[in-house]
Amino acid sequence: MTRTITVHADKPGAAINPQMWGLFFEDINFGADGGLYAELVENRSFSFPDPLTGWQKISPSKARGTLSIESKDAFAAYHPRYVRLQSEGADAFGIANEGFRGMGLKAGEGCDLTLRLRCVSGTPALRVAFYAENGTLLEQIKLENLPATWDQRTAVLRPAASDVKAKLYLLLDGAGTVDIDLVSLFPQATWKRRPGGLRADMVQVLADMKPGFLRFPGGCIVEGSELDKRYPWKATIAPVEERPLLINRWNYEFLHRPAPDYYQSFGLGFYEYFLLCEDIGAAPMPIINCGMACQFNSGELAPMEEIDSFIQDALDLVEFANGPASSEWGGKRAAMGHPAPFHLTMLGIGNEQWGAQYIERLTAFVTAFRAKCPEIKLIASAGPEPADERFQYLWPQFRALGVDIVDEHCYARPPWFYANTHRYDQYDRSGPKVLFGEYAAQSDKMVSPNNVNDLECALAEAAYMTGLERNADVVAMAAYAPLFAHRDAWQWMPDLIWVDNLSVVRTPNYYVQQLFATNRGDVVLPAELTEAEDERFFVNAVREAGSGDVILKIVHPGDGTEQVTIVLNGATAVVASQTVLSGASLADRNSFDEPEKVAPQRAAVTLIGNSIGLRLKAHSLTVLRIKTA
Ligand code: AHR
Repeated sequence: MTRTITVHADKPGAAINPQMWGLFFEDINFGADGGLYAELVENRSFSFPDPLTGWQKISPSKARGTLSIESKDAFAAYHPRYVRLQSEGADAFGIANEGFRGMGLKAGEGCDLTLRLRCVSGTPALRVAFYAENGTLLEQIKLENLPATWDQRTAVLRPAASDVKAKLYLLLDGAGTVDIDLVSLFPQATWKRRPGGLRADMVQVLADMKPGFLRFPGGCIVEGSELDKRYPWKATIAPVEERPLLINRWNYEFLHRPAPDYYQSFGLGFYEYFLLCEDIGAAPMPIINCGMACQFNSGELAPMEEIDSFIQDALDLVEFANGPASSEWGGKRAAMGHPAPFHLTMLGIGNEQWGAQYIERLTAFVTAFRAKCPEIKLIASAGPEPADERFQYLWPQFRALGVDIVDEHCYARPPWFYANTHRYDQYDRSGPKVLFGEYAAQSDKMVSPNNVNDLECALAEAAYMTGLERNADVVAMAAYAPLFAHRDAWQWMPDLIWVDNLSVVRTPNYYVQQLFATNRGDVVLPAELTEAEDERFFVNAVREAGSGDVILKIVHPGDGTEQVTIVLNGATAVVASQTVLSGASLADRNSFDEPEKVAPQRAAVTLIGNSIGLRLKAHSLTVLRIKTA
C-alpha cells in the first residue's frame, strides 16, 4: 500500500510562534553545579554542612601534619570557615578535592586557579598539583612567599594528559601553618572564554538546537521543599563569592537516588541565565515562586498578608531584566556588565501548583502585574498532570483570570503521546495559549530509575510534536524535561542530554527536538492523508517564510519500510532533501561508547514534477524539505 500525503502550500493556516521549540533548564542531575557551571572544585569555601565534603586529607606515610576547620579571623564574614594545614615538613601534607565525581581535564588546556590563603607560621610553599584517577601526576606548580595576611593567589595549571576523573591537590612543602579558603578552578576554555563561566560543550549543544526560549531555573527548585529553600533569585546576582549556599532539593528528594553532596552555589545565577539566553538566541522565561513551597513536599504557604513581598520580587525581576541603568534593579544589571536590557517578555508564576490557594495567590500576581507591568505575559501552572482533577479545576480559573499562557506538563509512557496527537484540535482558540512546558515519554514509569532515552520514546514525542505544531494557534511553546544529566550523579531519568566531566551525549530525544526546532517553519499547511492518521503514522507540514521551503515531519514508528507519495499543491517544487532519524530497533539509544548510534542522516530525494516518492525507514522521523520556485 502507498499512502499519499497532499500538501496545500497555497492554503496557509496558523502562524507558528518563532519561539515554539525551547529548553527547560533545572539544576537537577548535577545540571548546574557539576554541570553547566564550569567550576571544577566541589565545596570551594568549605561551607557545606560537613566542611570537608569533596575534600580528603593527603598524608603520605612520612608526613606529619594536622588538618582542621577554623573560623577565627576568616577572610570575609560571608565565608566564616576555612581549612588550616599544619605540617612538620618531613613530607608533603595537605588536602585534595575530588571535584564533582572527578574533574574533567583536557591535555594542554589551561585551568585558572584562584585561592585565598595566609601563612600563619614557618615558610612553607604550597604545591598545587593535578593527579589522574590512576594516580599519574599531570601537572604541578609551586606557590612560594606565601602572604602573612589573607590574600588572593592565582595560577594557571596545564595538565599533561586528559583525564575525566582527575583531582586537585594542595600540599605544603616544608614546615609551617597555612590557612586556605575559596579554592576555585575553571577551565580557561569556557563558553565564550568567560572567566568563571559555563562549560562550552554543554552550551554548544544547547545553541545547536536553536532554541526559541529557555525556561529556568526550574521546576521544583523554584518552589523548594519548604519556603526557606525556594529559589532566591536576588541572592544569585550578588558577587559570585558572596552568593549563599543552599541545599539542592534533589539532594534528598529520592530515597533511591540520594545525592548528599548536592548543593546550589548559584555560580550560575539569574544574570548568567539571562546571558545564556542572549548567547543562544533563546527568549528568557524565568519562573518565580508564588508564595507556595512544592506541593509534593510540605506545600507550605506564604500567608496572603505576606504575598506582596513575593510579588515585589517578581516586579523587581522584570526591572532587573528590562529596567534602565538608572533604575534600582536595572542598575544592578548594568553594574554586572550589561547596560542593555535582556528583553524579558514573559514570566511564570509558580511551577506545578494547584488548588484554590494557588488561584488566590495567582490572582494577586495578575492584578499587580496588569497594573504595573502589563507588557509581561504571565504563565500559570496547570499542575503536574495533563488531565487530572487538579488540571480540570485550574483551566476555567485561568480563563476567568485572563492569564496569557498555561503551562501543562506530562510524563507518561509512549502510548499516551500517540493517543494524544489530537489533544489540541478541540481546544478553545480564544483563551490562553499553551506552553507544554515539561514532557518526556517514559519507557518504564515516571521517576523510575529504569527509564531510558530510547528511540521508541523519541518517536512518541515526535509524533506528539506533529500535533503541537499543527495546533500552533493554541500551542505557543513546548520543551522536553529534564534537560541535562550527569552519568555519575543523576536523580531523574530520562533526560535530553547526558554528560560526563568531558563529553556530551545527545539522545535520540535531543535529535527530535533539534529537527523540529531547526525546521520549525512559520505557518502550518494543510496535509491531507489518503487514510486517516492511525497509531502508526503521523505527519505535519509547514512553510518557512524566508526561504519559501515547504517542510514535512513524518513519523513512522512501525516495523518495516513504508512507501509514501507526497504531492505538493499550490507551489512548484524545485528540489528536495530529507533528514532521517531512525534505528534498527525501537530500543536503540545513544551511549558514551556509541554517542551517534541514533543520529540524523541526510539522504537524497528524487522529484517527479511536484511529487516525491519516499520509502520511509522503519522506526523513523523523516524531515522532508522542499524548495519551491
Ligand atoms: O523535570 C523534573 C521535575 O518534574 C520538575 O522539577 C518538576 O516541575 C516536575 O515534577
